[in-house]
Amino acid sequence: MSGNKRHTCVFGLGWGDEGKGKVVDLLCPGFQFVVRFNGGANAGHTVYVGKDKFALHLLPAGVLHDHVQAVIGSGVVVDPTMLISELDALARRGIDAGQRLRISDRAHLVLPYHKIEDQLSEGAAKPGAKIGTTARGIGPCYADKMRRTTAIRFADLAGEADVLERARRIVEARKSAFQSTYGNDGGLNADDVALELKNARERLSSNICDTTALLHKADRDGQAILFEGANGVLLDIDHGTYPFVTSSSTGPYGIGPGAGLPDSVVTHRIGTAKAYSTRVGSGPFVTELKDALGDRIRDRGREFGTTTGRPRRCGWFDAVACRYSAAVSGATGIALMHLDTLSGFDEIGVCIAYRVDGRTLQSPPASASLLERAEPVIEFHPGWTEDLGGVSSLEDLPENARAYLR
Ligand code: IMO
Ligand code: MG
Repeated sequence: MSGNKRHTCVFGLGWGDEGKGKVVDLLCPGFQFVVRFNGGANAGHTVYVGKDKFALHLLPAGVLHDHVQAVIGSGVVVDPTMLISELDALARRGIDAGQRLRISDRAHLVLPYHKIEDQLSEGAAKPGAKIGTTARGIGPCYADKMRRTTAIRFADLAGEADVLERARRIVEARKSAFQSTYGNDGGLNADDVALELKNARERLSSNICDTTALLHKADRDGQAILFEGANGVLLDIDHGTYPFVTSSSTGPYGIGPGAGLPDSVVTHRIGTAKAYSTRVGSGPFVTELKDALGDRIRDRGREFGTTTGRPRRCGWFDAVACRYSAAVSGATGIALMHLDTLSGFDEIGVCIAYRVDGRTLQSPPASASLLERAEPVIEFHPGWTEDLGGVSSLEDLPENARAYLR
């Protein structure tokens, strides 16, 4: 049914931060559309244009290419204030992304009470139960979306009086809910919410449209669409290390709900993984190195969060988890990032199975506590000392690096 066989999805096979933005940036020249379909400002995609470094959270990383039409699909939860400030920051550097941006009228808005609830809920959670969210209001906004009666979508901005009245009622209810659950209302203020809605309407109205129809037309017209996943499959609401996950469908299967195209039109599904593992926030991480080796990976890989600045937890490549996330997502290829970070290690570990309660597991169990107790079965490979900076083909890699890849 698709008029075009080249639609591609770039997504994360891990717990986020796999280098998706860079892969998208490399592929962009071959695509007319770049589409976000999941998550929100929890994503942090760092890309370079020349020597300029950009950290994008809501705009698709592809927007930096001035031939690209950028789309924020129905499955994204959009903090309008952050989106406006991202657009303004690019405009100050001479990039008029606003002209080329379309936002789905079906997408939901992240409003101040979502961010406040994210903070209050994390603040009140017992140490072992904290998710370690990015505090961007992602979970509470998706919860409102599922609840339906307390959600606000971009389509709603057209009826200004109605949306303001609805927001006022939501704020009142939320204030008393926060008060009774957390003992304070987190400073939630109806005027702040009304102002954000007014600004969103003023600044973004011309960007809002039926992006589903737009993308179907692009497909019929033979244009190539690049879908840019946020977060990663191990953070997926259904398939990740629940409950230490984000609240959206992070793999290519999220394109149906999140962009309105059947995911069967996406023939290239490029899973992005790092040559080692990282994780930010809490949750099980079987191959984590809590020692000098982990510190060395963090320093060499500059593993600090783009969104929150938090140091990332680091460990060996987890083939058990990656095999699983590649299978779940139907990856047709893998972009392996940061191999150069591993230069100089005497030996490099790969986790090939988990041991837990006397059993050997070949795929991750559902239970977080089981996963928390699992020990990695590590296979060690000899390292290499060469700097991989200038290497651009497989044959030019040192023999041990090629063996490690295999
Ligand atoms: P990109 O797109 C890394 C993690 C958070 C937390 C959990 C839930 O940059 O790869 P949330 O705020 O989504 O409710 O947090 O998910 N997380 C990410 N970690 N990179 C991301 O995105 C992430 N998005 C969410 O740290 O553990
Ligand atoms: Mg990130």
